[in-house]
Amino acid sequence: MAGSMCYLLLVSLLTPPCVGTILAAQMCTEVAVNLTYNCENLGLKEIPERLPATTKFLEFSFNYLPDIQNSTFSRLRDLVYLDLTRCEISWIHEDAFENNGELSTIILTGNPLIFVADTAFEGPRALKHLSLTQTGMTSITFIPMQNLENLETLHLGSNHLSSIQLPSTFLAHNLKVLDFELNAIHHITKKDIASLKQATNLSLNLKGNNIRDIEDGAFYQTTFQNLNFGGIFDVSFMLKGLQNSTTHTLWLGSFQDVDVLDTTPAMLEGLCNISVEALNIQSRHFSESAAIFQCFTGLKELDLTQSHWKKLPSAIEGMNQLRKLVLNQNSFDDLCQINAASFPSLTHLHIKGNEHKLDLGTGCLEKLKNLQHLDLSHSKVAPSTCCNSPLRNLSHLQHLNLSYNEPQTLQGEAFRECPQLELLDFAFTHLHTDASPSPFQNLQLLQVLNLSNCLIETSNPQLLVGLQSLQYLDLGGNPFRSGLLTKDNMLQPLDNLQVLILSSCGLTALEQQAFGSLGKLRYLDLQHNILTGSGLAALSDLKATHLNLAANSIRIIPPSVLPAFSQQNIINLSHNPLDCTCSNIHFLRWYRENLHKISDPEETTCGDPPALRGVKLSNVTLSCTLLVVRLIFLVLFLLIIIAMVILLVRRYIIRKYENI
Ligand SMILES: *[C@@H]1O[C@H](CO)[C@@H](O)[C@H](O)[C@H]1NC(C)=O
Ligand SMILES: *[C@@H]1O[C@H](CO)[C@@H](O)[C@H](O)[C@H]1NC(C)=O
Ligand SMILES: *[C@@H]1O[C@H](CO)[C@@H](O)[C@H](O)[C@H]1NC(C)=O
Ligand SMILES: *[C@@H]1O[C@H](CO)[C@@H](O)[C@H](O)[C@H]1NC(C)=O
Ligand SMILES: *[C@@H]1O[C@H](CO)[C@@H](O)[C@H](O)[C@H]1NC(C)=O
Ligand SMILES: *[C@@H]1O[C@H](CO)[C@@H](O)[C@H](O)[C@H]1NC(C)=O
Ligand SMILES: *[C@@H]1O[C@H](CO)[C@@H](O)[C@H](O)[C@H]1NC(C)=O
Ligand SMILES: *[C@@H]1O[C@H](CO)[C@@H](O)[C@H](O)[C@H]1NC(C)=O
Ligand SMILES: *[C@@H]1O[C@H](CO)[C@@H](O)[C@H](O)[C@H]1NC(C)=O
Repeated sequence: MAGSMCYLLLVSLLTPPCVGTILAAQMCTEVAVNLTYNCENLGLKEIPERLPATTKFLEFSFNYLPDIQNSTFSRLRDLVYLDLTRCEISWIHEDAFENNGELSTIILTGNPLIFVADTAFEGPRALKHLSLTQTGMTSITFIPMQNLENLETLHLGSNHLSSIQLPSTFLAHNLKVLDFELNAIHHITKKDIASLKQATNLSLNLKGNNIRDIEDGAFYQTTFQNLNFGGIFDVSFMLKGLQNSTTHTLWLGSFQDVDVLDTTPAMLEGLCNISVEALNIQSRHFSESAAIFQCFTGLKELDLTQSHWKKLPSAIEGMNQLRKLVLNQNSFDDLCQINAASFPSLTHLHIKGNEHKLDLGTGCLEKLKNLQHLDLSHSKVAPSTCCNSPLRNLSHLQHLNLSYNEPQTLQGEAFRECPQLELLDFAFTHLHTDASPSPFQNLQLLQVLNLSNCLIETSNPQLLVGLQSLQYLDLGGNPFRSGLLTKDNMLQPLDNLQVLILSSCGLTALEQQAFGSLGKLRYLDLQHNILTGSGLAALSDLKATHLNLAANSIRIIPPSVLPAFSQQNIINLSHNPLDCTCSNIHFLRWYRENLHKISDPEETTCGDPPALRGVKLSNVTLSCTLLVVRLIFLVLFLLIIIAMVILLVRRYIIRKYENI
């Protein structure tokens, strides 16, 4: 009884005196009251009685439930999601979930199942997701097929299955995902594929199976959403098996560095008779011939990540339909080596993580007049004067990612060629910006600008001129000279700014009116600076914002700043050395009255006096009346002394006159 009282208290918020009396084994974490509980890895042998009957989502992995009876979960009638990963379950008895009508997900990953009763999954009205990954299964017939007609995903990875054939009793018409990753499937027959016929729009994962043959015509006139044959060495027989099939996405990638022999054009010929929209063929070596691309002409998306290209062949033809090309982690020296002109309809081009130093060259992409997204992040882009010559003719470019590259120089109007830019990301790329005119001046549509850790010239008030649509600006990690955000700073032109990040900028004070023009600001991040209470005057210009002042040097907050705090919505003051003495009494009172505005009150603690260090501000009750009383006494004392002195002087004078 006492224990359960403790538990209730625990649930309703950890109260220190109870913690000691509760065994670790009973401490499920409450993620959402009455709904979501996490009992992971607590060595539990049963469902704790104190879990409320209203629990819907239960994470119960890494416990010990060797057999599951109809009583095991009978009390939790509202259960929707149940994760029983690695609970050493070997027996699942009749009607094990008969009282769990709402159950839609059961995860049984990593349990050494020996017996699963025919009626094991009866009860749930619509079981949608079932994971039997790594359960030692050797045949699909092991799974009881009753009541699985609503199943949408079935995970059967890492077992010993040798066939993908579903039993005819399995009504698979709702199946969307069927995962056979890492089994022992070596042959695929017509019958196997025919057993999947009911499932339209299926994603079938056969990755990591050592498939050796596919019966001719097995996939004839079938349609899939996604087919994953990852890890197959020679793709030619597999493509032959896929003749005359339709699939949205075909995954033919290899595993990193497994496959060192070249994939030849002949191996890919079968692709000409398959209808595919998106092909991923990453981590392979190719013979450098344009013929590799001969059967790619119907593709809309092509992913050639990490496929050891130094140069794409120049004579590629017929790729007019391709919209998205991914060339991540290859080894180009010069952007012109991708022969962009061969892919004239591209809207998305990703060259991320290039392994050689990449020279952007001049006009290498100029034929890509429809290009909207260009990702060149982490690509060792060589120092240059950016960006008009590399971006020549890209008038529809909307997103440009040049983050994590070598230093770039930006001159005035550096993006003249792409006036439609909406997002520009230069994070962690050092930028040399010229003194006066703004490199961004023609970017009237730019909404997101990430200049974090770019070491930009923060004292140039002209830097951001022209960015009238900008909503999001990240200036984190750019030091401000002398630690001061002055009132004539570069933020003045940004009328529409909603989110401003100024974290880790070495700021010690914000000058009055530093945010004067930012009437639409909703979030201001000033974390990890060196601000003190007296440097916050500028905050009075802001209204209804989320203000993050975490991890600064704020000790005492003067009464004059409190009205500015009051007009904000949310304030984060965590990790500041806040003063909890009577010198800060105005703020401490304000804090208690405005707790609803405080984010992270758990980490908003006292830094001073030493006796209160680490105590939550909300728990501090100071009585500073003592001081007032002392003051009154002092004043009274002084008054009495003065009165006595006056009296004495008066007497002395009277006596003196009497003596006359
Ligand atoms: C949780 O359930 C208990 C008992 O049914 C109920 O009294 C309480 O109000 C519920 N709390 C919430 C937050 O729903
Ligand atoms: C479990 O099954 C037994 C025998 O079939 C039955 O008597 C009992 O009522 C069931 N228990 C629950 C909680 O449904
Ligand atoms: C097929 O599945 C994909 C995702 O798996 C989904 O985006 C698409 O809308 C589905 N198409 C149809 C026709 O149901
Ligand atoms: C499959 O074959 C039929 C006739 O045999 C043909 O009409 C159809 O276009 C082919 N489909 C694909 C994707 O090759
Ligand atoms: C493509 O299909 C046609 C007719 O169905 C057939 O003649 C041809 O050999 C097939 N091509 C490949 C590469 O399998
Ligand atoms: C630039 O793009 C236009 C269409 O926007 C196109 O007609 C022209 O050929 C392109 N210029 C070059 C040099 O490719
Ligand atoms: C730009 O690329 C970096 C690194 O690849 C990535 O973390 C970042 O999210 C990208 N930026 C955008 C806006 O997607
Ligand atoms: C830059 O900021 C944008 C907008 O929040 C974000 O999507 C992107 O991931 C950031 N870039 C990096 C490299 O973190
Ligand atoms: C408040 O700031 C701290 C320190 O950066 C951070 O860990 C925490 O997530 C923030 N709280 C909220 C609610 O954003």
